[in-house]
Amino acid sequence: MSNMISVEEQKVLVAQTAIDKLIAEGLIHSGMKIGLGTGSTAMPAVKHLAHYIAKGTLKDIAAVPTSFQTSIACEEFNIPIFSLSSGRINGALDLTIDGADEIDPKKNLIKGGGAALLKEKIIAYNSKVFVVIGDESKRVKTLGINFPIPIEIVSEARLSIMKKLEMYGVSMIIRDGIRKKGPVITDNGNFIMDIKWPAGEKINPAQLERELNAIPGIIENGFFTQKTPRVFLSRATGIVEEF
Ligand code: A5P
Repeated sequence: MSNMISVEEQKVLVAQTAIDKLIAEGLIHSGMKIGLGTGSTAMPAVKHLAHYIAKGTLKDIAAVPTSFQTSIACEEFNIPIFSLSSGRINGALDLTIDGADEIDPKKNLIKGGGAALLKEKIIAYNSKVFVVIGDESKRVKTLGINFPIPIEIVSEARLSIMKKLEMYGVSMIIRDGIRKKGPVITDNGNFIMDIKWPAGEKINPAQLERELNAIPGIIENGFFTQKTPRVFLSRATGIVEEF
């Protein structure tokens, strides 16, 4: 047991291993446009990338951050950032690297535990290559049993959305801030609603990803099923596996 590494160490290990492998494969290289995710696993990836930029191994990198957290980290570590619609990026990225809350055997994801799902999805879905990194706790047989699905909503529509969602038999909660009274306000000025299906209910992530977004007032939901990622997962034994 003493050889086991902590979850925090697993996050650093998987971020560094994935980036090193992608550089070795030539998938991360100088001059590229790269999307950078949000969360406690994405942060060591941002830092590791910054290390290669500072060393001169990677030159002329243009990054698009998915949140204030990531923009601030990029500024701190001197990674040049651009908006997705800037001339340099022109609406399309070469590769995005991000974490996830849950990953199923088909590599469908739940994301949005850090309330950044809207930009994360825009950026992932507009990248040629999508890379997801995580520790082994993120791997599940079925999405949504333990982790509620985050949806980003227009605040005014919260009750009308709840009425529409009643037909799914889900439980719903507006996410509250921590050390902030009242609801979480996303980087885009919206609320987050966390919804959960009853235990044992079979859900179809791809269908739900489409259906949820058809409800007026739902801006985006945390199912990611339309862009199959390369997945790197670390284990407590210190091993990183790719799926
Ligand atoms: C942010 O909104 C999320 O999608 C994160 O990517 C996800 O919550 C994983 O975060 P951690 O790496 O902190 O677990």
